[in-house]
Amino acid sequence: MPLSSVHVALGRVVLVRLRLEARTGFPDLDWHCRGVEVRRLCDRQEEGAGLQHQGAEHFPCSRWLRSVDGDVELRNGDSESLLLHKSSEFAFSTNSLMSCGGLPCRWRTFAEGVPHCVDMTSLKELGPNLSYTRQSPGINLQYLRGFAERAESWSSFTELETMFSHNGSQNTVAKYVQAHWAEDWFFGYQCLNGCNPLMVRQTRLLPPNLSINSDILCPFLPDGSSLEQELERGSIFLLDYEMLEGVPANVINGKQQFLAAPLVLLHLNQEGELKPIAIQLQQAPGPQNPVFLPSDPGPDWLLAKTWVRCSDFQCHQLSSHFLRTHLLGEVCCTATLRQLPEVHPLHQLLMPHIKTTLQINIQARASLLAANGVFDKAVACGLEALPVLLSRATERLRYRSLCVPDDLADRGIHTLKHCYYAHDALRVWTALHRFVSGWVDVYYLGDQDVEQDSELQSWITEIYTHGFLQLPHSGCPQSFQTKPELSQFVTMVIYCCSALHAAVNFSQVDFDLWMPNCPASMMHPPPQTKGMLTEDEILSILPDVNSTCNLLITLFLLSQPAADYVPLCQYREPVFSSGAPRRLVEKVQAELRAISDEITDRNKKLELPYDYMSPDRIENSVAI
Ligand SMILES: *[C@@H]1O[C@H](CO)[C@@H](O)[C@H](O)[C@H]1NC(C)=O
Ligand SMILES: *[C@@H]1O[C@H](CO)[C@@H](O)[C@H](O)[C@H]1NC(C)=O
Ligand SMILES: *[C@@H]1O[C@H](CO)[C@@H](O)[C@H](O)[C@H]1NC(C)=O
Ligand SMILES: *[C@@H]1O[C@H](CO)[C@@H](O)[C@H](O)[C@H]1NC(C)=O
Ligand SMILES: *[C@@H]1O[C@H](CO)[C@@H](O)[C@H](O)[C@H]1NC(C)=O
Ligand SMILES: [Fe+2]
Repeated sequence: MPLSSVHVALGRVVLVRLRLEARTGFPDLDWHCRGVEVRRLCDRQEEGAGLQHQGAEHFPCSRWLRSVDGDVELRNGDSESLLLHKSSEFAFSTNSLMSCGGLPCRWRTFAEGVPHCVDMTSLKELGPNLSYTRQSPGINLQYLRGFAERAESWSSFTELETMFSHNGSQNTVAKYVQAHWAEDWFFGYQCLNGCNPLMVRQTRLLPPNLSINSDILCPFLPDGSSLEQELERGSIFLLDYEMLEGVPANVINGKQQFLAAPLVLLHLNQEGELKPIAIQLQQAPGPQNPVFLPSDPGPDWLLAKTWVRCSDFQCHQLSSHFLRTHLLGEVCCTATLRQLPEVHPLHQLLMPHIKTTLQINIQARASLLAANGVFDKAVACGLEALPVLLSRATERLRYRSLCVPDDLADRGIHTLKHCYYAHDALRVWTALHRFVSGWVDVYYLGDQDVEQDSELQSWITEIYTHGFLQLPHSGCPQSFQTKPELSQFVTMVIYCCSALHAAVNFSQVDFDLWMPNCPASMMHPPPQTKGMLTEDEILSILPDVNSTCNLLITLFLLSQPAADYVPLCQYREPVFSSGAPRRLVEKVQAELRAISDEITDRNKKLELPYDYMSPDRIENSVAI
């Protein structure tokens, strides 16, 4: 069926729409269509091909057309484009759904109230398509293993420093942390640019549970100002670890451990430094729950801050890291395997970003999070606490908080000059969003196509059900009505599995190596009084020698570079190597390079560079 020639440049033809119309006076006959061929006569030069038929694009049809059927839509015969306006004959057969190692992928409940996981417990079940290998660790951990028997407190800060000088001295960030961990400005710095930049938020109101009056805080505010004025100005920030309230703490080396659920007020001063001004370690106010202040005796204030850092460690590892990157990635991967056929354009776009999550999470559940794993042996949130904290974090998970522009604005940190995390996150998000929107534009002509893509709708329903546990307050979409909604969601998935994981993963060795900066557990209850503590006594509250080393060994093992490290938006799959996908990939790669360059320049001017979100250091998927 020859089409008349077209005189304007055609982009990539992804869809051909045919309609059989009966002319009045002619019989209304059915026609058989074998297929449609679109030939280009002029724009072949770019690929160096001849002028002849190499440029033909094929749209297979092989069926009878009837005038009563109205429009029939055909997609390009090669795998990269797709018929989205599909009539029933063209629906993808479920046979083409990719399986996990040949078996259909099923869901499993790993813990009540926590996103569901893939129903597999061994890597064998994954099959070759979803497995990968990481380089085996080349580091020598013998020195740390030498501490493995010592179920006792560190004898002095000097002893801790000696261990650190062996195993942390090549790490310039860790050395910086060791030098500044006790300073107030550095405490605030870590809320913005440390390994867990997801907790701190601007507040205009004092939390009702924090028992302070504004007079008490006056000395820590600018001269002549008041707490009310500072709140109004937007320079008061809050850390609230209420999700830890009442979580049962672990027993380590036969000793009961403790958890707190602190509330912390911070003030942003004229120099742009964020400094803590009040710390209450438990949620419910009362005489046994004093509010610690910068004017308290040095050891009391330091211990209060250390308690907050320990609380942050739990939320960082389980909420920011495991839930928001690892589990979210696994939910999306499982939903993709179950609901989107391999030729679906979102299957193709997403898989490179999510396919490694199944293996790493199966391994994590079998080791790190299992009996005798590092949480069991060395972290205050042990095996009893894990499901409790994870389900609380899930209940508190908001879709808005996973979307960078919304999250930064909601937390009021988008305008902070010294929040490098916020700045870099927004730039990376914007580049990814442009890329994803371009991808969606190639395959979906209008909102209606999104609405009518039943596979896509099943996919998001599955994620809402198994990932967000049908909690409407999560704000997770239950269906997609428009292209922008779809682009936003897909950007979020790619962002969380790549950039967010880099922000919370790469940074952990740097900030956790000097143990007092991030103790994984505390051996005494939160202090109820002030003025009775010496700095050395703090050591008897911090983790034992061998639990410290246990954690460090895990961190070192997790820090091994991947043998097949793939940076953000570098793709090996053939679908990305031609046509519209290739152009989109080239564009986003150029944008990401520009972001890397800008970050490199910025970092030259910083005493402590922030490069976790530099796109060349961001891995394409969660693989560790
Ligand atoms: C692995 O992927 C290839 C290509 O997509 C597919 O043909 C094959 O069936 C898959 N293998 C398994 C075990 O799923
Ligand atoms: C610490 O060492 C003791 C033996 O002295 C051992 O029983 C215990 O499991 C070790 N603890 C950790 C956290 O490795
Ligand atoms: C720890 O220090 C020891 C002794 O200097 C060294 O042999 C070992 O390689 C270090 N380990 C790491 C992980 O840096
Ligand atoms: C105040 O503390 C109580 C008791 O711990 C807790 O149940 C409640 O959620 C807290 N309120 C706020 C606003 O955090
Ligand atoms: C996680 O961080 C370590 C460094 O701490 C790095 O070697 C590793 O490649 C990172 N993994 C990912 C997936 O970002
Ligand atoms: Fe990770």
